Amino acid sequence: MSGAPQWRVFADADAVAAAARDEIVALAASAIAERGRFTLALAGGETPRRTYARLAESVADFSRWRFFLGDERCLPPDDPSRNSVMIRRSLLDPAGIDARAFYPIPAELGAEAAAERYARQIAGWQPFDCVLLGMGEDGHTASLFPGQRHPDDRLAAPVHNAPKPPPDRVTLTLPVFRSARRLLFIVTGAGKREAIARWRRGEATPAAQAAGAGNAVVLLDQAAWPSEDEAGE
Ligand code: 6PG
Repeated sequence: MSGAPQWRVFADADAVAAAARDEIVALAASAIAERGRFTLALAGGETPRRTYARLAESVADFSRWRFFLGDERCLPPDDPSRNSVMIRRSLLDPAGIDARAFYPIPAELGAEAAAERYARQIAGWQPFDCVLLGMGEDGHTASLFPGQRHPDDRLAAPVHNAPKPPPDRVTLTLPVFRSARRLLFIVTGAGKREAIARWRRGEATPAAQAAGAGNAVVLLDQAAWPSEDEAGE
């Protein structure tokens, strides 16, 4: 698998969030200077919350930014477990970002219908300038889970029987992650250490497959960073 990521290790989760904010702001400045806009696909889960909070308080003008989602859970639109709800609460609302700048995945339609609609919706926005991704303890990223087949002939795909609830989801796919100008992983906590060790040993976890095009930077804290022995280096 070509294209190992850049690993950047920080003392703790706060330092990771600050570094992620800095990286995103820098990418936005260059994208807006070169193309007049910045397209950012956001990660779900809990880890990115700190980064979103910092972004909300440190960027004065989001008017050229457009926000997308890397995956979504098939739940009602206002369900507190939706990634879109977490993003509205931690970033869009505190920053006063116009809701029209955010393109949520319509996962309430069901996985198949939502994946088809979202793939059409994001096609004209490819490649994204930056895609933020988290990683699960099993090495999953977005809703690409180990042991599940993920089509790579489309931009978004339905997911069923996901091991991380809820079972039904919609995820962007490897072509989207591999074509992004920058793929930025945010990984913190000792629970992720083994999956990072597997990644560094060359195992083709979903996170490693997403990062295989050489466009990835992984920001992690010491707790998630295995020793060389653990990583088999
Ligand atoms: C989701 C996310 C998922 C998440 C990882 C890490 O819908 O849950 O898209 O891929 O990024 O599971 O989650 P934490 O940041 O909460 O550890």
